[in-house]
Amino acid sequence: MRLIIQNSYETLSKWVANYIAKTINDFNPTSGNPFVLGLPTGSSPMGTYKELVKLVKAGKVSFDNVITFNMDEYVGIQEGHLESYHSFMRTNLFEHIGMPLENINILDGNAEDLEEECRSYEEKILAVGGIKLFLGGIGPDGHIAFNEPGSSLHSRTRIKTLTYDTRIANSRFFNNDVNQVPKLALTVGVATVTDAEEVILIVNGHGKARALHKIIEEGVNHMWTASALQLHPKSMIVCNIDATAELSMETVRYFRDIEKDNLDPCEL
Ligand code: GLP
Repeated sequence: MRLIIQNSYETLSKWVANYIAKTINDFNPTSGNPFVLGLPTGSSPMGTYKELVKLVKAGKVSFDNVITFNMDEYVGIQEGHLESYHSFMRTNLFEHIGMPLENINILDGNAEDLEEECRSYEEKILAVGGIKLFLGGIGPDGHIAFNEPGSSLHSRTRIKTLTYDTRIANSRFFNNDVNQVPKLALTVGVATVTDAEEVILIVNGHGKARALHKIIEEGVNHMWTASALQLHPKSMIVCNIDATAELSMETVRYFRDIEKDNLDPCEL
């Protein structure tokens, strides 16, 4: 696992956006051989999405031959609801980058048969050859997507009950009223994420410091589901300084040292 420590949220966002753009460009996608990208919602990736929009507008990367799969969606709120993940993706990324609608995949939290919706999502991912790069964030309790503490590290796309902690954390998007936050979500599983050829997690801010410590410095554990990345052959966490507050000096020094000679891959 690589740990990239950036000074601020702004540089972190730029770094991740440039890395994604470079990975897409190196792959040189075509309509017959598209690049398959997994995407998250939440406040963590917002800066990255802004930077990706800038790169697309500057002609440095194109999403014409990119297929996306989102991590999760609430159950029971309309697609057009301001806080649905469909709306989030449309307003924060897709409508600004001319993303072909037929290339966008987001779980339907209003499907008649939710279990079938989850099964067919996994099949769709397989049908396009699997996800090349999965970008994610983490919750304060170290969850990826909506894989709450105690989720199987072998889990697949399924219906999940959200913990009270997660609903409180997300109530900031629902008028600070936890009762407005849906109780269920559809989410890719931990194994759906770790099946990707490469996984990048954005960890930003002091509020994620304990989780970062748990997922990097302690063992693989279903109570901190992002720790599953420790077993992934190509994973990377990009964090800002504030998020390192609970890491030991030794850990920070180690990762800084092994990254110091790496050229910033991100100037496009
Ligand atoms: C939700 C999402 C996760 C996201 C997490 C953290 O639980 N399902 O994918 O990583 O929130 O969100 P934020 O980035 O806003 O802290």
